[in-house]
Amino acid sequence: MIRIALVGCGTMGETHAHAYTSLEDAKVVAVCDIRSHHAEALASLLGCEAFTSYEEMKKKADYDVLDICLPTYLHSRYAIDAMKSGKHVFCEKPIALTLEDANRMVETAEENKVTFSVGHVLRFFPQYQTAADQIKAGRIGTPALLRTTRNQAFPGWSWENWYQDLEKSGGPEVDLAIHDYDWLLCNFGPVTRVYAKNLGPKHPEQMHTLAILRFASGAMAHVEASWALPKGIEFRTTFELVGTDGQLCYDSTRDCPLKTQLGSDEEVSLFYDNPLSEEMNPYRAELAAFLHAVVHKTEPVVTAAEAIAALHIALAAKESARSGKVVRL
Ligand SMILES: NC(=O)c1ccc[n+]([C@@H]2O[C@H](COP(=O)([O-])OP(=O)(O)OC[C@H]3O[C@@H](n4cnc5c(N)ncnc54)[C@H](O)[C@@H]3O)[C@@H](O)[C@H]2O)c1
Repeated sequence: MIRIALVGCGTMGETHAHAYTSLEDAKVVAVCDIRSHHAEALASLLGCEAFTSYEEMKKKADYDVLDICLPTYLHSRYAIDAMKSGKHVFCEKPIALTLEDANRMVETAEENKVTFSVGHVLRFFPQYQTAADQIKAGRIGTPALLRTTRNQAFPGWSWENWYQDLEKSGGPEVDLAIHDYDWLLCNFGPVTRVYAKNLGPKHPEQMHTLAILRFASGAMAHVEASWALPKGIEFRTTFELVGTDGQLCYDSTRDCPLKTQLGSDEEVSLFYDNPLSEEMNPYRAELAAFLHAVVHKTEPVVTAAEAIAALHIALAAKESARSGKVVRL
């Protein structure tokens, strides 16, 4: 039985905690959050101990894996500390805010011979997986034009509103578009040039990024990601992948088996339920794949090098938007 400690019991901590409840051969033995009620809520769900201090959890709990669901600016500090104590680390995306921090995380994982992966969860969404399989099988011929969108209202749910501070979240390029950068790199190969525009940070709750990527293959992508939707508007992701022989299209607002929308002043009044199968839960699938890599000592599906490559594109997009120039990689 693999033993897990979870640090950060906010939005993603809760998502991971629910995913662990249906994973066999994995037991969350401790959870930690500086907000005690958040830690206690997940401890009661998982039947484990709650801590409000990581240091105390490290001293008192016995675990093999640290799952990090902390705000992004804390990822490298906690990941490196855990790896130095010989723990395997699963860290929410993005890996870190800078390439320096990300490289130090990878070096520390290698030095301590621990498994390390990052939550680039699109790899585990059934729709994105099926599209990837069809691309690999040559169904749309040679990919030429790729268009992705990932648009939502500003993530106002966070602890101390840390998303609004770009020094802590990296903004929509590093926090949001990075999902698509990872998936595009994984399926269409390396990128040679990035040109981008953005809205913000002068418009703190309307941040938006639009990047044009040129791939070494000659393909081109438009990647749009937004925190600019008005509060209460539905989160939506899409892709259109055009090749020489056909295209693949997806729209997240069209594939939900059960959608509940309640009249409410609350930020979130829209709930999705998927009564089909827990196996299809991408967060469960990514954690199961990571634990499989730990147990079998194999390379994780999302490697640290891939997480760094996605961060590289996100930072290039920010730099291009700042300078107004094309960034060559
Ligand atoms: N994969 C995805 O789809 C996805 C979606 C949203 C967010 N994320 C990523 O997940 C990470 C967490 O985001 P979130 O939306 O859950 O944030 P959040 O603000 O909802 O949760 C963060 C939690 O960390 C706790 N915390 C802060 N400092 C701490 C410390 N020193 N020790 C212990 N607990 C501490 C806070 O109290 C809070 O409960 C971010 O890196 C974000 O980019 C990923």
